[in-house]
Amino acid sequence: MHPRMKLAVLVSGTGSNLRAIAAAIDAGKCAATVVLVASDKESAPALAFARERGIETAVVRPKDHADRAAWDVALAERVASTAPDLVVLAGFMRIVGAPILARFPHRIVNVHPALLPSFPGTDGPAQAIAKGVRVAGCTVHLVDAGVDTGPILAQAVVPVLPGDDAHALHARIQVHEHRLLPAVIDAVARGRITLGERPVISPELRFDAGAALVSPPIE
Ligand code: GRF
Repeated sequence: MHPRMKLAVLVSGTGSNLRAIAAAIDAGKCAATVVLVASDKESAPALAFARERGIETAVVRPKDHADRAAWDVALAERVASTAPDLVVLAGFMRIVGAPILARFPHRIVNVHPALLPSFPGTDGPAQAIAKGVRVAGCTVHLVDAGVDTGPILAQAVVPVLPGDDAHALHARIQVHEHRLLPAVIDAVARGRITLGERPVISPELRFDAGAALVSPPIE
């Protein structure tokens, strides 16, 4: 992979993960460069951040296209026009379709706010709270045709604390997303993760599992 891997980052919202990637790049901790930030929503704050930084942006809205299939093709072509090495879904709230999967086979990663395969889809933290699990976390995985079903690349774990609601849990998870996603991108850029149908993770690669659960001492 290229020493400064070219990223296209797809966003729909706040863009805290995009900011984390940019900060890691600036700090020399992520051997990548963002060549495009694309969104399905003109109002996404992540776009404003990208524009401030002088990153090329694109808005590809479903309502500007005849149907879902036409939007899929338009998005795939716009992303491909910047020739990224890796496509990063960082809070992109739509399923990517066959055209983009075909253009970037095993080259699309997503960050999801749950420990997959538990709690795929929307509201991972709310699902975790509803089930009463005691640990939660985030997953960076390769994107395939399913919903959050692709091969898992890395995960970080956080405790679910008494009194947590979905918002509090999500905030705790996001701290770890912001470390894990740039770390995975860097690992791909440096050849420590080899992407493919079955990604290969170098044995020397160590991810901090996240916040350790600390039990009170037994009296
Ligand atoms: C993140 O929690 C991510 O896991 C999920 O959407 C959220 C996006 O947050 N897919 P942000 O826009 O990066 O702040």
